[in-house]
Amino acid sequence: MKFRKIRLMGLSALVVFASCQSTTDYYNPLDDFEQLDPATIFATPEPLPSPNYSPEQTQRGKYLVGLLGCGSCHTDGALVGAPDSSRLLAGSSTGIAYTSPFVDSNPGVVYPANLTPDMETGLGSWTMERLVTMIRVGTTEHSASSLPVMPWPAYANIEYDDALSIAAYLKSLRPVRHEVPRNVRRGQRAAAPYVHFGVYQTREQASEN
Ligand code: HEC
Repeated sequence: MKFRKIRLMGLSALVVFASCQSTTDYYNPLDDFEQLDPATIFATPEPLPSPNYSPEQTQRGKYLVGLLGCGSCHTDGALVGAPDSSRLLAGSSTGIAYTSPFVDSNPGVVYPANLTPDMETGLGSWTMERLVTMIRVGTTEHSASSLPVMPWPAYANIEYDDALSIAAYLKSLRPVRHEVPRNVRRGQRAAAPYVHFGVYQTREQASEN
């Protein structure tokens, strides 16, 4: 089993080790631990002035997007490597497996979307209502169940006005043209790289269960 890098993210990955003993013959995800740099991972670009939204609203959205860590998935280089500061929030060419690569040699993979308002590759054509619903309920034509990776259940209790501020902020970003790879269904071979998040246990612990 070979994983190039595993990034441990507060929001989306919980790494549990009952035993820190390291024996030689099993994979230890912490060997590949890569330290997050909050300054770049959670960086949020300034919104452009917009006739449609107030500066208070877009600044509140900026604050929330940084706080909720949207860029930690939705930016190229944020999952692996170094975040591309010219493409903040413009989607990730590295995907996230939503089935276990320990079980599936070809796991299902989703690619975090381009959240800038580019008409063709981003959220340019999305209505505010659709964006707000997406943030709070996870439903679009993808349907709720296709988004287990994006932590929308954690955002479900967000106040309507806050979700609206996030939507206003995203709609006020400079549009960045960037097409992310297509999602890959379980069993298909992914052409673009991906990572996976997970809860790990040592083999010793697994055999006790
Ligand atoms: C843990 C990673 C992760 C985080 C954090 C995350 N997302 Fe996502 N998001 C994804 C993935 C993966 C997809 C694509 C899912 C799919 O295609 O089925 C997605 C899809 C979306 C979409 C749908 C876009 C489209 O074109 O279909 C929107 C809108 C979105 N995210 C907004 C946000 C916002 C706003 C935040 C922060 C509040 C956020 N995301 C945080 C991983 C994440």
